[in-house]
Amino acid sequence: MTTLPHHDAAASKPGSPLQKHYFLLRRLHSLTGIVPIGVFLFPHLFTNSSIMWARWTSPTSTVPPVERGIQTFQEEVDFIHGLPFLTLIEVFGIWMPLAFHAVFGVWFASQGKANVQRYAYQDNWRYVWQRLTGYVAFLFIFMHVSSLRWGWTYGGLFPSFDAHQAASTTAEHFQNGSMGLAMAAFYLACVLAIVFHFANGLWTAGITWGLTLSTGAMKRWGQVCASVGIVLAVAGVLSVYGFSTLDIDAAKAVEGRRTAVEPMAAPATAAPTEFR
Ligand code: HEM
Repeated sequence: MTTLPHHDAAASKPGSPLQKHYFLLRRLHSLTGIVPIGVFLFPHLFTNSSIMWARWTSPTSTVPPVERGIQTFQEEVDFIHGLPFLTLIEVFGIWMPLAFHAVFGVWFASQGKANVQRYAYQDNWRYVWQRLTGYVAFLFIFMHVSSLRWGWTYGGLFPSFDAHQAASTTAEHFQNGSMGLAMAAFYLACVLAIVFHFANGLWTAGITWGLTLSTGAMKRWGQVCASVGIVLAVAGVLSVYGFSTLDIDAAKAVEGRRTAVEPMAAPATAAPTEFR
């Protein structure tokens, strides 16, 4: 984002159509990275990692742990899909801010100079990584949303998601045939890159908005941002691990039994299954 804002060529180009609104665009870019995109990451990775953490909650439940993960993830997806005006929320609350942040992020990144040779500070390296992970995020999120949300399969490479069979179809996406572990590794790398991008972006946002002026304030804010990054990284790793190791057939059995009993609602005390 803006560790070294004075290096941006776009800002210094007189006559550029973007120059007039440059500082507003910079701030909007910073803001959209935090709200709604960064904020979205918390419930999203929390929901996805329920495939793992729900196994460890309710230890006295008669439902086997793996089945609890499948059911909890399905309940969370049902909740999201039951929200009123979901498409409007998605278009204006997620996709448009994402597109704005991505397009202007690529624009700002292509205009600025990393300057690593001249200033060998760690911040410069973080600045370089911020840009690199921004490009990764751009490509990954487009692939991810277009396949899991819009149903593009890219010639069968990325199996699509079915909200009624949430856990099994997400697991299919992660364990797709020959891709197998490569897909899980790809996801892991991209998710961690995005978490870095967000946590580091949060840190530089403190400078953009003039909130962290002293070295001490930057250091303290850095500790907060690092903690946020660690929490999100753990949720991301749990999500990737949970779906890339889930038994797809067994998950389909749980989901099939669930829809047969009561469509889109999970019985609290499902019969024991093959997960025992
Ligand atoms: C860690 C592994 C992840 C898993 C298992 C995962 C899973 C999913 C699934 C299943 C959907 C479809 C949801 C639905 O239709 O109800 C989805 C959508 C989406 N994901 Fe992820 N995701 C992961 C990481 C990420 C990351 C790192 C981002 C970065 C911002 C992200 C951004 C999105 C967005 C923007 C959507 C579209 C949401 C919507 O339009 O409602 N995901 N993801």
